[in-house]
Amino acid sequence: MKNSFFVLLLCFSLNAFTQINSLYKEQFRPRFHFSPAVNWCNDPNGLVYNNGTYHLFYQHNPFGNVWGHMTWAHATSKDLVHWKHLPVAIAEEKDTMIFSGTCVVDKNNTSGFGKNGSIPMVAVYTAHIENVNQSQHIAYSLDNGITWTKYNKNPVLDLGKKDFRDPKIFWYGPKNYWVMALMFPVEHFVQFYSSKNLKDWNHLSDFGPVGDTAAVWECPDLTQVLIEGQPGKKKWVLQTSQNVSMQYFVGEFDGKTFTNENPVNKIVRPDYGPDYYAAIAWNQLPAAHLPTAIGWINNWKYANDIPTTPWKGAMSLPRTMSVKKIKNDWVLLQKPVDALKTLRSNPIEIKNTGVTSKRSLSRKTQQLEMLLSFEPSAANSGVRLAVGNNSYFEIGYDAIKQTVYIDRSKTEQTGFNKNFSSLSRFEAPVSLKSKKMQLHIFYDHSIVEVFVNDGEVVLTAQLFSSESNSGIELFSNGGRSTIVFLKMWDIKSIW
Ligand code: FRU
Repeated sequence: MKNSFFVLLLCFSLNAFTQINSLYKEQFRPRFHFSPAVNWCNDPNGLVYNNGTYHLFYQHNPFGNVWGHMTWAHATSKDLVHWKHLPVAIAEEKDTMIFSGTCVVDKNNTSGFGKNGSIPMVAVYTAHIENVNQSQHIAYSLDNGITWTKYNKNPVLDLGKKDFRDPKIFWYGPKNYWVMALMFPVEHFVQFYSSKNLKDWNHLSDFGPVGDTAAVWECPDLTQVLIEGQPGKKKWVLQTSQNVSMQYFVGEFDGKTFTNENPVNKIVRPDYGPDYYAAIAWNQLPAAHLPTAIGWINNWKYANDIPTTPWKGAMSLPRTMSVKKIKNDWVLLQKPVDALKTLRSNPIEIKNTGVTSKRSLSRKTQQLEMLLSFEPSAANSGVRLAVGNNSYFEIGYDAIKQTVYIDRSKTEQTGFNKNFSSLSRFEAPVSLKSKKMQLHIFYDHSIVEVFVNDGEVVLTAQLFSSESNSGIELFSNGGRSTIVFLKMWDIKSIW
């Protein structure tokens, strides 16, 4: 009896040990993107910076690996690269789930939640009662976001609607008040409100419907960013999410109304791939810090079915945001944060080399960063990742259509959901710079993020290829292309 007890204990401990030891080494697990240790995640929530710490809250199911029981989970980082998991922050209660929202540090205690000089962190989120109501609630924390108290006079904004969600709040200095952007998903517009105390909200204006109205609008984000090449000059970027993809508008916000300065009939996207959604920017970054956003890597068309376990869903690399005028349009420029460079190791470099048909690199890996500048061929040319077993993921420039594209149709495991296999090729128009195409690629096991021409276009996609498909291949169809330079690094795991 005693012996069998010890055998059982040993088996149990060994099992726990192997589980801990294999965590963040599972098949398809991203090694340098944030993902929860276990269970489901979707939208980033409550991004706020305080005293050297970046907070990331996110939509999470603490009880399973599919969407449900929505709760705010919590992680923090000192550098936007390495993350520490913290206990669940704001939990679902009875029939009310905690949907997306944002967070601020209420330094002047405008809410009155601070006690004895302590500074409260205040979260505004949508309380969701399935098929009945969505209203805006607040909660506060006096210990840096670890424990939260729900306001006893919630809701702070309830229009009695079934769809009315995803508050983004921020401090608007010139008018000395808080602003909230909120979504009317079905009607396709953003509504703006103001408040002096985060509790009483006054309607300011509406923006929309405009642009992509093919699906419900979710998760508005309004952020002020610098204009590239015009020191000190700024514009406002409004991002919205349309169930499966995002769009952005660039213009002015005067504390009341947002005015779009881009052509009304032109749809522009922060990401032209299938897997970037619900992105929002950090609140209250230090003055010299570039505005920085993060998005959920997945797509509602197949999100619940992706073949990853014991987790589902990840966050994009944090991206800095600025804008630039190209011809008559304001273009959002996004770049991976500089701190990611600390993960680089084992560089390799190739210069001035022609490619006809294809050419394999000697390095094999599913965990890399690549800077590639090439003069394209007359048809399609670029680079393939996850090469092996007759499969690959292709990133290329199509000289005939003058587009950059990603194509996952030839990767393994596309059949787990028919929407995944049909959503396989994505493209965006781009211009060559001095006849060259510039790609900045991050490949992390099941995630590819491609920043094109200094971030004018970004494409993000998931793929689910075997670990052994780790070849890298340059290709050129329709004649020769020239690699002006290629630099590549292995990227260390952050876990
Ligand atoms: C966007 C979204 C939000 C909602 C949350 C629920 O992905 O649908 O509109 O608040 O996810 O998890």
